[in-house]
Amino acid sequence: MQEKKSIHGSWASRWVFILAATGSAVGLGNIWKFPYITGENGGGAFVLVYLLCIALVGIPIMIGEVFIGRRARQSPINALQDLAEESGSSKHWGAIGFMGMLAGVLIFSFYSVVAGWVLQYIFSTASGALNGVSSEQAGTLFNELLADPTTLLMWHTLFTIMVVGVVIGGVNAGLERATRIMMPALFVLLFVLFGYGMSTDGFAAGWSFMFDFDFSKLTWDAVLVAVGHSFFTLSLGMGSIMAYGSYMPKRASIGSTVLAIGFLDTLVALVAGLAIFPIIFSNGMDPAAGPGLMFISLPVAFGQMAGGQFFGTLFFILIGVAAWTSAISLLEPTVAYLVERVGMKRSSATISLGVVVWGMGILCLGSFNFMSDVTLFGKNVFDFLDYITANIMLPLGGIMVALFAGWVVKQKFSSDEINLKSEALFKLWVFVVKFIAPVAVGVVFILNL
Ligand code: PHE
Ligand code: NA
Repeated sequence: MQEKKSIHGSWASRWVFILAATGSAVGLGNIWKFPYITGENGGGAFVLVYLLCIALVGIPIMIGEVFIGRRARQSPINALQDLAEESGSSKHWGAIGFMGMLAGVLIFSFYSVVAGWVLQYIFSTASGALNGVSSEQAGTLFNELLADPTTLLMWHTLFTIMVVGVVIGGVNAGLERATRIMMPALFVLLFVLFGYGMSTDGFAAGWSFMFDFDFSKLTWDAVLVAVGHSFFTLSLGMGSIMAYGSYMPKRASIGSTVLAIGFLDTLVALVAGLAIFPIIFSNGMDPAAGPGLMFISLPVAFGQMAGGQFFGTLFFILIGVAAWTSAISLLEPTVAYLVERVGMKRSSATISLGVVVWGMGILCLGSFNFMSDVTLFGKNVFDFLDYITANIMLPLGGIMVALFAGWVVKQKFSSDEINLKSEALFKLWVFVVKFIAPVAVGVVFILNL
C-alpha cells in the first residue's frame, strides 16, 4: 500500500519530528510557568504530582495524539472524524478538535504577551540597564513594564508577526532550523544558570523547596493546576501534537520518540526551577510572587554574575526562541484545518488567524493596566485565560483524546500504528488511556467543584 501523506508536507526524518515536537513542548511553560506555579503551590508535593501526571497521563495521551495524527494525515478535526468513521463510530468526535482550536487561540493570546516581556528583557539586559540591580529594583522595573500598554503592545505585535511569518512558510522551512541550533544552546545556558544557583547560599533552600514533599501544603486546586500543567507543558489536549504527528514519517517509532520528548521537556522544567529558586531564596524574595517570578529573579542573578550582561542577553534570546517554536504549534492545527476544509491559501489562513489572536492579546496585556478592573470569576483576563485553558480545556481535551484512542478507534488500527515491540506494553497503554487517565483527571475535576 502506498504511504498516505499530508497535503501540508512532512518532516524529513524522525529526528526532525523530535526537534519540532520538542520545540512545541519546551517553551514558556517550562521556564516561566512551571517555576511560578510551583512557587505559588508550595513546592515539593506539587512537583511530585506534576511528575506523576507526566508519566501516567501525559506520555500515554501524547502517544494517542501522535498516532491519531499520523494515521489520518490530516488536521485534528478531520483526523478525528475520519478515524471515527473508519472505526464505525460517529463523526461528532471531531468536536474535540474544535475545542482544541479555540484553546489554541486563547492560549496564544496570553502566551504572546509573556513572550513580549521576554523580548523586552533581551534589550534591557543587552543595554546594561539591569547590571547590578537589587531585587527591589528588578521588581520595580517589571511593574513599570506592565504598567505601559504601548510597550507591551509593541512587543506583542512583533512576536505575533514573527510567529505568523514562520507558519506561513510551512512545517519544514524555518521551524526546523530554529529548533536544531537553539534548543541545545538553551540547554547549555540553563546549566550555566543552574551552576550559578549552586554557588549561591540559597541552593539548599531551593532544592528542598522543590523536592521535599509536604503534603499538608497540597490543596485540590494545586493538584488540578499540576494536572493542567502536565497537559500545557507537553502541548497536549488541543491538537498541536496531533497536527505535528500528521507530518511524522511512517518508519519512526512512536513510543520511544514520545518518551524522548517527555523526558526533555521535564528536564528543562526541573533545571529551570533549580536555577530560579536558589536565586529567590538567596535574595530573600517571595517564591509565590506569581507570573513575574522569572522576570524579577533572573535579572538579579545576571546582574551579579561575571559576564552576566552577555549570558543574560543570550538567555532571554533563547527563551524567546523557545516561546516562538511553541507559539507556532498553537496556530498550526487551525491553519491546517482552514486550508483543508475551507480551502484557504496557507498565507491567508495564517494572517486571518494572526489578526484574531493579536486582538485577543490586547485584552490580555490590558489586564495589567487599562483593563485591570475587568475581572471574570475574580481573575483578570490574563489570569482567567491562563487558568481555564490549562486547567479546564486542555485536560478535558486530553481525556476526550484518551477515550477516543482507547474506546472508539479499532484496536487493530492503534496497535498497527503505534507498533510497540512488546504486546504487554501495548496492553498497558490501552488500559491507561481507557481507564487510568480519564478516571484520574475526572476525579480531580470533580473534587475541585
Ligand atoms: N508546551 C508549551 C510550553 O510549555 C505551550 C503549549 C501549549 C504549546 C499547548 C502548544 C500547545 O510552553
Ligand atoms: Na513545556
